[in-house]
Amino acid sequence: MTENDSRFLKACRGEEVDCTPIWFMRQAGRYMQEYRKLREKHTLLELCTRPDLAKEVTLQPIRRFDLDAAIVFADILLPLKSMGVGFDFVKGKGPVIHQPIRSPADVEKLHAGDPEEDLKCVLETLGLVRGELDPKIALIGFAGAPFTVASYMIEGGYSRNFLHTKRLMYSHPEAWQRLMETTSEVMARYLTAQIEAGAQAIQLFDSWVGSLEPEDYRRYVLPYSQKIFARLKPYSVPLLHFGTGTATLLELMKEAGGTVMGVDWRISLKDARGRLGSNTPIQGNLDPVALFAPPSCLEEKVDQVLEQADGRPGHIFNLGHGILPETPVENVEAVVEWVHAKSKR
Ligand code: CP3
Repeated sequence: MTENDSRFLKACRGEEVDCTPIWFMRQAGRYMQEYRKLREKHTLLELCTRPDLAKEVTLQPIRRFDLDAAIVFADILLPLKSMGVGFDFVKGKGPVIHQPIRSPADVEKLHAGDPEEDLKCVLETLGLVRGELDPKIALIGFAGAPFTVASYMIEGGYSRNFLHTKRLMYSHPEAWQRLMETTSEVMARYLTAQIEAGAQAIQLFDSWVGSLEPEDYRRYVLPYSQKIFARLKPYSVPLLHFGTGTATLLELMKEAGGTVMGVDWRISLKDARGRLGSNTPIQGNLDPVALFAPPSCLEEKVDQVLEQADGRPGHIFNLGHGILPETPVENVEAVVEWVHAKSKR
């Protein structure tokens, strides 16, 4: 098998596969003892930026489960460095931006730096991982989409209602445009470099874009995500476009770009297919909290996702959002086995 024939890449291209491929968003992390052990000795930023450690963490879930794809261990906030925005990960709080962007003057201070230089470590990790990965397992690179990354830079951390973000967007449309242009330029450079370093597919995480109404998405977000996808298209690698709470945005997100659309559990795969057209490959969409259910209930939910996907080509099994820190490992293992066995063609 050549690397291009992996089950994951074939499904992303809508081709027939022997069974449904599966991987999990945030598959490397605290629910795994191996990860916690390394994390005791190193900060999250160290794990992300030291290629020897990042390679190990990337491979941890691959060694433990029969997954079809590895995702490079990094974080969507790393490229903030290339825009001159300082941040840290704070225990119990998540990411904290040192000086959140709140005004047009703050936006003026941003610059589109050189992620290829600043994030050489991630590019190096991709090369190391590819060197050790079985050809049947695909390697995914990723970045945050402009809206989701901007929301962290503006809010300063996680937000419930995105008040500062939307206020800047509505009150200072020119500053917003500049912010989104700078962010999309940095992400386009970063993702291009990841493909050149060995990423065989790219996922753009627009995790929080579901907080927008469709017209605002069209006006304030679509052009910038579109610019990123347009820059990546010539490379002909699968481009996965993911968000949560996006049931009403799917057509617009597809217009922005991506060859595979990621959806969460709030919409059935059948409805998502109906909106996107049956030729658009889909990724999803088990509720991450289902992994905490008793095995019989979990199995029923896995069956439901597979039934909705209907055995047609162009389905990649995943969660509807990242795996949660307390997730029982044995349930993760069971889901991987069920998906492969139950979807055998
Ligand atoms: O999927 C993988 O295994 C690759 C690694 C990965 C991380 N972050 C490592 C990480 C990926 C793909 C991400 C993406 C990411 N980061 C997103 C988009 C996906 C999503 O979940 O919506 C977002 C919004 C972030 C920003 C971020 N990083 C938050 C909100 C947090 C804190 C929440 C939490 O889970 O603690 C982080 C920290 C982070 N990034 C951890 C990991 C494994 C937590 C680990 C730790 O503290 O040891």
